[in-house]
Amino acid sequence: MIDLLHTPEGVRDIYNGEYRQKLEIEQAIHGVFSGAGYMDIQTPTFEYYDLFGSDIGTTPGKDLYRFTDRDGETVVLRSDFTPSIARCAAKYFMEAQDTLKFTYKGNTFSQTSELQGKLRETTQMGVEMIGDGSTEADAEILKLSYDAIKAVSDKPFVISVSHIEYFKGLCEELGIKGEYELKLRDYITNKNFVAARQYLMSRPSTALCLSDDDIEKILKIETLAGGREILDKASALANNDRSLAAIDRLKSMHDILKSMGLEDCITYDLSMLNKYTYYTGVVFKAYMSGVGDCIVKGGRYDNLLKEFGKDACATGFVIVIDDLLQAVRTPADEEKDGYLTFALTKGRLADKTLDLLEKIGISCEEVKDKDTRKLIFVNDELKLRFFLAKGPDVPTYVESGVADIGVVGKDTIIEEDRRVYEVLDLGFGKCRMCVCGPASAEELLKHHEKIRVCTKYPTIAKDYFYNKKHQTVELIKLNGSVELGPLVGLGDVIVDIVETGSTLRENGLTILEEICPLSARMIVNQMSMQLKSERIRDIISKIKALGIE
Ligand code: PRP
Repeated sequence: MIDLLHTPEGVRDIYNGEYRQKLEIEQAIHGVFSGAGYMDIQTPTFEYYDLFGSDIGTTPGKDLYRFTDRDGETVVLRSDFTPSIARCAAKYFMEAQDTLKFTYKGNTFSQTSELQGKLRETTQMGVEMIGDGSTEADAEILKLSYDAIKAVSDKPFVISVSHIEYFKGLCEELGIKGEYELKLRDYITNKNFVAARQYLMSRPSTALCLSDDDIEKILKIETLAGGREILDKASALANNDRSLAAIDRLKSMHDILKSMGLEDCITYDLSMLNKYTYYTGVVFKAYMSGVGDCIVKGGRYDNLLKEFGKDACATGFVIVIDDLLQAVRTPADEEKDGYLTFALTKGRLADKTLDLLEKIGISCEEVKDKDTRKLIFVNDELKLRFFLAKGPDVPTYVESGVADIGVVGKDTIIEEDRRVYEVLDLGFGKCRMCVCGPASAEELLKHHEKIRVCTKYPTIAKDYFYNKKHQTVELIKLNGSVELGPLVGLGDVIVDIVETGSTLRENGLTILEEICPLSARMIVNQMSMQLKSERIRDIISKIKALGIE
């Protein structure tokens, strides 16, 4: 019986005071939405798979909970409300000419990775406005998100705004289309400008005729973040009508928001390109300290309803109630929030990072003391905190927001797969991820025979063998001294880091295949990038000024 007492990973019971607070939040927000004239609508918890398929541009298939019902239909637990509301609008209001305003509440389901502290079932509340394509409608939706947050909390928050058409216009201007545009969008969405640059420099297709200047131009989008003034900078960079129209729209919307008194909490970030590809215009996310991710996300999606046969523009947003609840329950900590926190990888990477930070005027003598067993170090003068963590834990601290910035090897970033921005390749800690083993194992890699692979990096090994080599392997997870595996007969080959190659040489092993180059990267928490934007961007630009990209 005991086994039945706990819930599966990613779902939880919520009761007593916490549940009461959640209900109060929901009621307050519902009051704001219905007070603004939004009509309640309820859609089913599960829908046909195709509603969330790739044509619609919503959650990736692997993250959906899908199953086959007894009629053989593939259905999914909803991961997002917007496609369902779009379907309803087309089904019940096909002929309606007036603007439709819906509000909804319910749980959504997404298969997040295990052991990442993320809920797989979350409550969302949101609104959708259908049939009004005006700038005033964009401003109304944004104001509504502001009012909803204000109705439940006095904590400061930031609403970060972008316009999808700005990026699309730049891509069109430079001839970046189709899969190349999507790939680039992916990198930019994750603020991974290192990979975006590498991708464009590799000139992935002859169809892409990009000069070095073109590459610099599109990558400048990284610098287009800040207050109203960046909109002028953005206009100056673009040379196409699509991007310029997007900026004009943002400027007009800004004037409306200013007249509504929202100016102080609005920032712009033109490299914020939402994950769901159905967005077509103004997009925004709201951030509050206490959760590492955004608490509100939304924007304009003028083409989605066409998929259901209704030609109507639309905009809307959702509030992730569980995240908002967590943010509200985490009291604002003036002292902590005023500090910038670094999570550094213990050992050589930390030493090199501290040397680098010293070059840009950031120091913390205490951390260098080799005899100390302290884990947290503070520089009160510069309002900085440092903590030393094991490599694989660094992305965990940064994703959750307890650390704003982290420095960690690329191998760990790939292996841990956390939602963090990878902003700089620091250039040190260079090594390679390789398949290694005795020379005799080379033969095994040529055929598709089943081989045994020992590794500390199962995600990287699996991706390499399954997705790139299409070879079936038996993965054996080890925690260190992986070279022992083939030496004692536990496995045939290893997937591991090679730096100088001496461990391999001294053990009679050799590199059989190279998977990817690695180096230390700087990663940043998504919420910190918005709430502490100025300080973080200043550090990034100072490091870049040293010639580091
Ligand atoms: C890493 C890696 C290799 C070794 C490679 O191990 O796993 O074993 O370094 O370096 P080299 O090419 O310069 O010889 P680490 O020292 O981190 O310890 P571990 O084996 O316990 O993981």
